Amino acid sequence: MARMQVTTEARKVVVHAAGGHDKLRVEAQSVPAPGPGQVRIDVKAIGVNYADAIVRMGLYASAKEYVGWPITPGFEVAGTVGAVGEGVDLAIGAPVFAVTRFGGYASHVVVDRAYVFAKPATLSFEQAAALPTVYMTAWYALFELAHPRRGAKILVHSAAGGVGSALVQMAKRAGCEVTGVVGRTAKVPVVEALGADHVIDKSTQDLWREAQRLAPEGFDVILDANGVATLGASYRHLRRTGKLVVYGFHSMMPKTGGKPNWPKLALDYVRTPRFNPLDMTNDSKSVMAFNLSYLFDRKELLAEAMRDILAWIAAGEVAPPAVTTYPLADVARAHADIESGKTTGKLVLVP
Ligand SMILES: NC(=O)c1ccc[n+]([C@@H]2O[C@H](COP(=O)([O-])OP(=O)(O)OC[C@H]3O[C@@H](n4cnc5c(N)ncnc54)[C@H](OP(=O)(O)O)[C@@H]3O)[C@@H](O)[C@H]2O)c1
Repeated sequence: MARMQVTTEARKVVVHAAGGHDKLRVEAQSVPAPGPGQVRIDVKAIGVNYADAIVRMGLYASAKEYVGWPITPGFEVAGTVGAVGEGVDLAIGAPVFAVTRFGGYASHVVVDRAYVFAKPATLSFEQAAALPTVYMTAWYALFELAHPRRGAKILVHSAAGGVGSALVQMAKRAGCEVTGVVGRTAKVPVVEALGADHVIDKSTQDLWREAQRLAPEGFDVILDANGVATLGASYRHLRRTGKLVVYGFHSMMPKTGGKPNWPKLALDYVRTPRFNPLDMTNDSKSVMAFNLSYLFDRKELLAEAMRDILAWIAAGEVAPPAVTTYPLADVARAHADIESGKTTGKLVLVP
């Protein structure tokens, strides 16, 4: 028999078909009940990710694979335990945060116990909701894939954003020399404050000339979610033995309007570099890639990542995410803002 707390109003964001910001509808929902081994979270904060906009546009492969239409986007929430199914060890009312494979944009969310983590008292609900996706992405990219050594030269594209902020801090903690790249001058102090050794402002500087100056032999690791705009040059600016970690393609996407520009998308797809294993071997360079939503079933990996991340935050070695909050009703504005390329840190919805 499930234990639960009585709740009143329940809402979720629903996207019925691919499209622009007007497709984000806030609708009433019935409060979901947890099954055995599951937890219902009464949500106080929801993390927004750039990927949520791609889901809305209908271009996110794993969303099509696991959900289809209609879909409620959202990879992460924080709140209190509202109800538990059989076999769950959590107290009603306990403050928690969780990862979700979609479905997070809601006032009440049911997830398996394995995806729920105790919220440290030092983190606000907003910070806790903002944490899992981008910090786990950065952890996986750096410590499962790239394995940088102390002193390694690392270049982080989009360094003031959600994932970028986490990458800069974690690479610094690992003793690396970090160069952050940003697309707007206003973001430079943000990346400096995160501890980057160098910041390249590509709105005023020649990105690759600066990169060449900072790492004449090339970088040990480059982390690139731009896609076609920089992938080829990122590969060329690796040193021998260097590693390129690819985890996004946002330069294919529009900064305004919320809808894909199909001819540009098709052209960018064709122009995206194809890396040849023969060349990679001769160059002694690696290209690696991943999508966190396919790691959802690797529960032991997610638990290990979260253990490290929470320990580093508790020790003050990595700061919690900087957040900007929006009411859930303003979800369209949050999407427009993250797509604009102007935001820094993380955006969070408050239901
Ligand atoms: N593979 C995975 O598992 C995984 C997981 C999480 C995130 N991601 C990817 O990581 C990237 C960052 O995600 P996030 O949520 O942390 O977002 P974010 O970095 O906070 O925001 C996106 C940033 O990308 C840059 N950008 C946006 N649109 C662009 C465009 N059309 N052309 C060039 N640059 C553009 C802008 O920064 P600058 O102008 O300063 O560069 C913008 O601030 C996204 O591509 C996302 O899809 C992948």
